[in-house]
Amino acid sequence: MSAEQTTHLTLRRPDDWHLHLRDGEMLKGVLPDTSRHFARAIIMPNLVPPVVTTEDAAAYRARILAVLPKEHRFTPLMTLYLTEQTQAADVAAGRASGLITAVKLYPAGATTNSHGGVRDLDKVMPVLEKIAEIGLPLCVHGEVTTPEVDIFDREAVFIDTVLDPLRRRLPELKVTMEHVTTQDGVEYIRAADRNLAGSITTHHLIINRNALLVGGIRPHYYCLPVAKREVHRLALRAAATSGDPRFFLGTDSAPHVDPLKECGCGCAGIYTSINTMSCLAHVFEQENALDRLEAFTSLNGPAWYGLPANEERITLHRREAPLAFPAKIETGAGPVTVFDPMFPLHWDVVDA
Ligand code: NCD
Ligand code: ZN
Repeated sequence: MSAEQTTHLTLRRPDDWHLHLRDGEMLKGVLPDTSRHFARAIIMPNLVPPVVTTEDAAAYRARILAVLPKEHRFTPLMTLYLTEQTQAADVAAGRASGLITAVKLYPAGATTNSHGGVRDLDKVMPVLEKIAEIGLPLCVHGEVTTPEVDIFDREAVFIDTVLDPLRRRLPELKVTMEHVTTQDGVEYIRAADRNLAGSITTHHLIINRNALLVGGIRPHYYCLPVAKREVHRLALRAAATSGDPRFFLGTDSAPHVDPLKECGCGCAGIYTSINTMSCLAHVFEQENALDRLEAFTSLNGPAWYGLPANEERITLHRREAPLAFPAKIETGAGPVTVFDPMFPLHWDVVDA
C-alpha cells in the first residue's frame, strides 16, 4: 500500500492506555470525545481525593458509566493510585474481581494531584511484590522529583536511579513506562528482554519543547512529562511507527479548564481526546507507516495487558479539505482548549 494512494483506512477499534477523565461536570464533558472512537481506556486515578482502594475504583467506574452516552460502547479500565498505605490484599481482591487493570505509581510531587504518591519505595515493596506475583501491570510516572534535577532530565534520571534498580530487585514485575518522552526511555524499553513496555502520547509525537516557548509562552503545550528536544520527538516517532509490540498509545489526554492553564502558575495537561485519531493518522502517514497505525492504537496495548483486541472496526477517511475541530470544548466545568497540532488535519473518523 502506498501512502499517497491511501484515502481510507480501516482499523480495529482503538484503545487508550492512559487517560484522564476527571469527575463531575468535567467527566461528563470530556467522556464522549473518547468513547466516540475508543473501545476501552485505562483511567488514571489522580482525582482529588485519589482513587486508592478497590471500593473507590468501583464507585468511580459507576460514575463514568452513569454519564456515558447511551449510543457509545466503552469500557473504562480502572487503576489504583499507589500510596504508602495501600494494602496488598485490597489490590489482589480488585484484580481477582476483574475490576482493576493496573496500579499507578506516582512519585510524590511528580505531577497533577500526586502529593499523595510514593516517597519511599521501600514502604511499598510488599504491595509491589504482590503485584508482581499476580501479574498485575504497574503503570509508572517515570520522573524523579528531586529539585536539583533539571526538569528536562527527570525521565532519564528516573530510569537510572529508580526504575532500573526496581526492575532488578523485582524482575517479575510487569512495568508500563507511561508517556515515554525521551530517546533514553525508548532505548531502555528496547533493551529489556521482558516485562517492560511503554505508552506514547499523541502530542509528544508532534511537538518538541519549542512549542512551549517560541514566540511567547504557550500554556496549552505544557504537560508532564514536559516535551523534550527534537531528537527525542524523532525517537518517539520511530518507536511508535516501528510496529514493535512494546510501544502503544496512551494519549494522556488531561483536561484542565482554561483559567487553570492560562494563569501565573498553569496546570500541566494537554487535551487531545477529540482529535487524537486524526493527529495519529497524520503522523503515521508522514512516516510512511499507515499500515502500522493499527498495531500502535489497537493491537500492542491489549496484548501487553492480556486482553483481546477489539473485534469492531473504525474507518478513517482522508479528505482533501482540512477538518475543522473546535478550538475549545465547552464543559459544565468551563472551557477546555483542544490540542492544536499546528498543521491542518485531513484524516477524519467516518465510521466508529
Ligand atoms: C496529568 C494531569 O493533569 O492529571 N497532566 C499531564 O500533564 N499529563 C498528570 C500526568 O499524567 O502527569
Ligand atoms: Zn497522565
